[in-house]
Amino acid sequence: MKATAIANANIALIKYWGKRDENLFLPQNSNISLTTDCLSVKTTVEFSSRNKKDILILNNRNYPPSSKEYKRYLKPFLDKIRKLAGTKRKIKIVSQSNFPKGAGLASSAAGFAALTAAINEALGLGLNEREMSILARQGSGSACRSIYGGFVEWRRGKKDDGSDSFALQIAPADYWPDIRMVICLTSRKEKKVSSREGMAQTVKTCPFYPCWLKTIDKDIKIAKRAIKNRDISLLGKISEENCLKMHALMITTKPPIIYWNEKTIAFIHKIRELRERGLKCYFTIDAGPQVKILCEKKDLKELIKEIKRMSGIKNVIITRPGPGVEISKSHLF
Ligand code: DP6
Repeated sequence: MKATAIANANIALIKYWGKRDENLFLPQNSNISLTTDCLSVKTTVEFSSRNKKDILILNNRNYPPSSKEYKRYLKPFLDKIRKLAGTKRKIKIVSQSNFPKGAGLASSAAGFAALTAAINEALGLGLNEREMSILARQGSGSACRSIYGGFVEWRRGKKDDGSDSFALQIAPADYWPDIRMVICLTSRKEKKVSSREGMAQTVKTCPFYPCWLKTIDKDIKIAKRAIKNRDISLLGKISEENCLKMHALMITTKPPIIYWNEKTIAFIHKIRELRERGLKCYFTIDAGPQVKILCEKKDLKELIKEIKRMSGIKNVIITRPGPGVEISKSHLF
């Protein structure tokens, strides 16, 4: 009844921003991501009749059943799982990540992917990867992508029950061994507006949302072609365009959601300037102020040198394409 899983965060290149069903976490649009190799979450779970209530410990901090994290994010997910597995047992969850949560680094994606795989193992549910992807999606949408390594597409699906809305691997982690994503932390603070609240507000109030939806299929097609041909210029360009389009939606939501800080903007200018000088580097930014830069191994040294010259950068993490979720024999408790 005890099991442990490790999952890595994924960073979207073509973004998910908006749900068509908030209860089932069905996205308005298909999207594409890259699973990283070192922003990871390790989670051990145990279902036991000895537990009087659910216990949640994230990065050594206890989140009681009265906490927002438990009530809003975990409880609805656990309710679904208990129903699926036909159990009333309470769960103990201990989870450790090696990066800050709630700062736009996809901690919920890695977190729910690891949790889903650990629960699947602990309860012997026997779910395959696709089924795990469907379940993880209902904890946090982007988590359905972290089940897989490398480049991943989350297909929107058409059905109302969500059975055709899951992630699929486009290319494994070793398909493009020279691609890098450099993650630059510009702040360690938790964001004020969660992705969940933000995207719901955008769907409801942003006048440009229908335009976004009209352009997505083309973006997906271009990104897939770029991945297939290992074309960094094309993948970088389309990722950057798609990211800016998403932030345009955020900014024109009512009330406006602005995730960037002044360092985020400095980065945007810097990267465009470096590109003019011939360096192939491209940014993407999620629901937070952190900047993620796509490049290839050969340009990494020059890029890092330039980043280090910039002020106020809290941390720089170099990631490569990483693996999907894995079961581990070493438990956290
Ligand atoms: C900007 O997956 O965190 O990172 O489904 O409500 O849990 P919920 O949202 P979440 O949203 C991620 C938004 C994004 C873009 C992306 O990862 O595709």
